[in-house]
Amino acid sequence: MRATTLVSCCLLLAGLAGFGAARADAGQKNYRLYCMGCHGADGSGSPVNGIPSMRGEVGHFLRVPEGRAYLSQVPGTLNTPLNDAETAELLNWVMKNIAGRSVPADFKSYTEADVKAYRASIPEDIPGLRVELVKRIEALAAAGSK
Ligand code: HEC
Repeated sequence: MRATTLVSCCLLLAGLAGFGAARADAGQKNYRLYCMGCHGADGSGSPVNGIPSMRGEVGHFLRVPEGRAYLSQVPGTLNTPLNDAETAELLNWVMKNIAGRSVPADFKSYTEADVKAYRASIPEDIPGLRVELVKRIEALAAAGSK
C-alpha cells in the first residue's frame, strides 16, 4: 500500500512537471507547484470560495505602487519556500501568462530587489488593503475614461 502511494505520488509529480519540464521556465513550474492548487491552471480561481480570479484581472493592481507590492505580500505568494528572485520570476510569469490585457503597457518586470523590499514590510491588514486598492484603481479607471 505504501509503495503504491509512493508510486502514485511520483506519477503525480511527473505529471505536474510535464514532459517539457526541462524547457518550461521556472515561473511556470513554480506556479504549478505552489499556486495552481488554489488558483487553477488558468488563474481563474474560485470566486465563490473566496479565491479571486487573476485571469485577465490581476495586472490592474500594478497601476498603483502599493498594488504592485500587494501581489507579493498576499499569503499565497509570501508563504512558499521560493526566494525573492524565484518569486519575482513567478510574478512575471503570472503577468505574462495569466493577467492578459490587464497589465499596464508600462509594466516593468519584478526584480529580486523589488520582492525583497516588498517582503520587508508586510502591511498588517491585507484584506483591508485590497479594498482600498480596488477603490483607488477604479477611481483611476473612471478618471481615465473621461
Ligand atoms: C491555499 C490556497 C492558495 C494558494 C496555494 C495560493 N493562493 Fe493566492 N489566494 C488565495 C486566496 C484565498 C486569496 C484571497 C485573499 C486571501 O484570502 O489571501 C488569494 C489571493 C491572491 C492574490 C490577490 C488577488 C486579488 O485579486 O486580490 C494573488 C496575487 C495571489 N493570491 C497569488 C498567489 C500566488 C502567486 C500563489 C503561488 C505562489 C498563490 N497565490 C497561492 C489562495 C491561495
